[in-house]
Amino acid sequence: MALEIDGIVLRNRRIKSLYYVLEIYCPPVATTIQPGQFIMLKISGSYDPFLRRPFSVYKSYSASHREKKKRGRLLILYKKVGKGTQRMTEFMKGQQVNIIGPLGKGFSLPPLPSSANIILVGGGVGIVSLYPLAAALKLGKLFVLIGGRTMDDILCEEDFRKLNSTVFVATEDGSLGFKGTVLDLFLSQQKTFKANPSRYLYACGPAEMLNELAKTVKFKEFTCQVSLEARMGCGFGACWGCVVKTIDPKVPYQRVCKEGPVFNLMDIAWE
Ligand SMILES: Cc1cc2nc3c(=O)[nH]c(=O)nc-3n(C[C@H](O)[C@H](O)[C@H](O)COP(=O)(O)OP(=O)(O)OC[C@H]3O[C@@H](n4cnc5c(N)ncnc54)[C@H](O)[C@@H]3O)c2cc1C
Ligand code: FES
Repeated sequence: MALEIDGIVLRNRRIKSLYYVLEIYCPPVATTIQPGQFIMLKISGSYDPFLRRPFSVYKSYSASHREKKKRGRLLILYKKVGKGTQRMTEFMKGQQVNIIGPLGKGFSLPPLPSSANIILVGGGVGIVSLYPLAAALKLGKLFVLIGGRTMDDILCEEDFRKLNSTVFVATEDGSLGFKGTVLDLFLSQQKTFKANPSRYLYACGPAEMLNELAKTVKFKEFTCQVSLEARMGCGFGACWGCVVKTIDPKVPYQRVCKEGPVFNLMDIAWE
């Protein structure tokens, strides 16, 4: 169940170019949040900006985590893109921040055969929501495809490597790894994935990337879940400001914040 609760900022540091990691002490949310769920963060004590901002949780450590110093911590990896995230860069150690969470429906992990190929495709800051999923996977062979415009937009590469996964990187300007989009990279690796018939695909990134993915993936070959990003008003299902069109005529629109943000790729009415 989602809580509205204050946390304490422990650390807020720039990790590269426009990217920052905010560390918050908030044991109730850190203990219960599941891979793919998100929080709504209040940015300011005043009305500017008025709306909270949604963020995936990059790392979380429960109140009973084996490493005492990590207990109760939530880490958010964010990109400075506008007024709200600019304000977040000014958060100071010891400051109180108000959170609503955990929110939404996260990734579902089917009982995987140990031979499963699990492929994660993350575009830009979208890769952040896939990290807790990768960390929770116990079985299978993990392939991680990380894409960004330039090498400055490649995030979490070391984290994924520590999970014993095979990591591929693509940059559109060719400054690191494969030159092209993360989907070009995905297509170039088809042979690697085809070596095993059991394939699970999880993706998060900009809407255009997921739209292209839907055209690219042959559904019969993959079980595929995607985490969608949308502009959000409330974050908990009340305003219907975040809807996405589905292929189901009985429920033609679903709320990204409530029924999502994770959906089956094939349930969305892509253009
Ligand atoms: C479920 C979910 C999880 C998210 N997780 C993360 C995360 O882990 N790290 C992270 O950096 N960001 C994440 N985001 C996006 C983040 O919420 C936005 O970047 C943030 O709200 C921007 O606020 P702002 O005031 O700085 O920008 P604004 O001034 O509101 O907007 C600046 C620019 O960013 C674009 N933008 C703003 N919000 C979104 C959005 N939700 N989706 C797409 N474009 C947007 C606007 O169109 C505009 O061009 C997530 C979004 C959702 C819905
Ligand atoms: S943001 Fe209000 S219903 Fe989704």
